[in-house]
Amino acid sequence: MNIHSVNETIEKVKSDIQHVSTAEDLELFRLKYLVRKGIVQQMFEGLKTAASEERPLLGKALNELRKTAQQLYDDKKRDLEQLKTTSREGIDLTIPGRRRPVGTKHPVTQALDDMTDIFKSMGFAVALGPEIEDDFHNFEALNFPPDHPARDMQDTFFLDKTALLRTHTSPVQIRVMMNRKPPIRHIMPGRVYRNEAISARSYCMFHQLEGLAVDENITFAELKGTLATFAKKFFGSTVKYVFRPSFFPFTEPSAEMDISCFLCKGKGCRVCKQTGWLEILGCGMVDPNVFKAVGYDPEKVTGYAFGMGIDRTTLLLYGIDDIRMLYENDVRLLNQFT
Ligand code: DAH
Repeated sequence: MNIHSVNETIEKVKSDIQHVSTAEDLELFRLKYLVRKGIVQQMFEGLKTAASEERPLLGKALNELRKTAQQLYDDKKRDLEQLKTTSREGIDLTIPGRRRPVGTKHPVTQALDDMTDIFKSMGFAVALGPEIEDDFHNFEALNFPPDHPARDMQDTFFLDKTALLRTHTSPVQIRVMMNRKPPIRHIMPGRVYRNEAISARSYCMFHQLEGLAVDENITFAELKGTLATFAKKFFGSTVKYVFRPSFFPFTEPSAEMDISCFLCKGKGCRVCKQTGWLEILGCGMVDPNVFKAVGYDPEKVTGYAFGMGIDRTTLLLYGIDDIRMLYENDVRLLNQFT
């Protein structure tokens, strides 16, 4: 043994401690260096046989070795214990993972998305319009006579003399026609507002999906084919449908479409009021006066339009019996639509 081998051992101690990462490693370290039969004590034994002039320096180096080994051992022991308590008290790897709450689509949004997908697959594009409208787009251009009851304060929310909350999505037809040229094949989903007494059956705000196709030679047969295809895709292939003559200022001729009640399959139940039929939309061929209002030549183009309410259909689909529940944002309802 000489001063050189002591210094080498000090270096070895330092590198050995680097590789200690568990309590077992640390115990091996202790057995190797720090017990009575360990390397450090053995080297102290060698001091006895060393030349007397070397002894002071060797003794000093050996003390350094012992101090280093003990210090490194103590430090590492403390580190390992700290790690143990933090992993025991701070990070419990046995706790089940925390679920991230995943939001769900509101049933009305879901119905609108499904309807939109069906019309997109038939070549319709989506157009949106403002919820705050004016008389021209909401009524006048749609051929409502000046004294039409729908213009009454009873139905329409007026914001001031000229601005109002749209009472239907039909004004978006006007905007689409004024912004582009035929051929047009668009659907226009959105919120609409009506000043109605709020009850289980009606609300002051609801949703509609409007449709419009304008081109040369568009026929009523195309309207029927498009809506029948939609109904089969949305309500199921066995659904029956019927077109009844009706009236809207902006279409001529006009119709309403009923489908066989999807709850009782047409037998008659509480939902369809024992008729077996549910009314789902209004439609018709675009009135020439509407074409004139947007600057189209009614001799050159024809078109069809339709508009359906989303909220009532959603209620029927999911068996919800109060429309107000759709807008209370009660998670007990919404959670059911995961
Ligand atoms: N705008 C009508 C309403 O709110 C629905 C409607 C009927 C839209 C016939 C149309 C249509 O585009 O052709 O009651």
